[in-house]
Amino acid sequence: MSATADLERFERLYKQSPDPWGYRTSSYEQEKYAATLAALPKQTHGLALEVGCSIGVFTGQLAARCQHVVAIDFSLSALELARRNLQSVSNVDLLRASFPEETPPGSWDLIVCSEVLYYLQPPALADAIGWIKTQLSFGASVLTVSWRGIGRDEPLTGDELHDRLARELARWHALDARQEQYRLDRFDGR
Ligand SMILES: C[S@@+](CC[C@H](N)C(=O)[O-])C[C@H]1O[C@@H](n2cnc3c(N)ncnc32)[C@H](O)[C@@H]1O
Repeated sequence: MSATADLERFERLYKQSPDPWGYRTSSYEQEKYAATLAALPKQTHGLALEVGCSIGVFTGQLAARCQHVVAIDFSLSALELARRNLQSVSNVDLLRASFPEETPPGSWDLIVCSEVLYYLQPPALADAIGWIKTQLSFGASVLTVSWRGIGRDEPLTGDELHDRLARELARWHALDARQEQYRLDRFDGR
């Protein structure tokens, strides 16, 4: 599936429902968000990048632990919903950008890729891992979270993705907090 076809799939999902995965209501998502926040390396972070922010539910929680968050998504429909959900949050910039090729430059203290990397096609994933290595070498911490179920269209399962990340980013691997339903790994730069 091409990146354009991927984008169209997400746009369709957001047109069908303002919360396609139940981020606002699902106890699984809330528990996973709490575990993600508990896995952050510091109590307060400087500049954070959130990749694939969707409708901004986790973004709001992350913003409470960061001075500033740049949250990107390639779906304009998702960003429109995020904008509404984050009206009262002042330290978040929402940007339309496709990861990794359109990622804005920044001196990132923290990068969060939750439920997004396994959608990338092989060449984009290879570029994304290269980009992550560069950010780690600059000192960023990178948190990745992925569902362990089997999706219909994703090129990799969560387990395949995280096994690859653990292998390729081994020298930075700081935390493996896997649970029955999802993988959660943290990589710390320098
Ligand atoms: C399953 S949602 C994850 C939402 C959020 N990170 C969370 O865990 O609550 C995946 C989001 O990533 C976005 N996405 C997928 N591939 C992307 C890419 N290559 N660049 C930017 N956004 C992407 C989709 O539009 C969608 O909003």
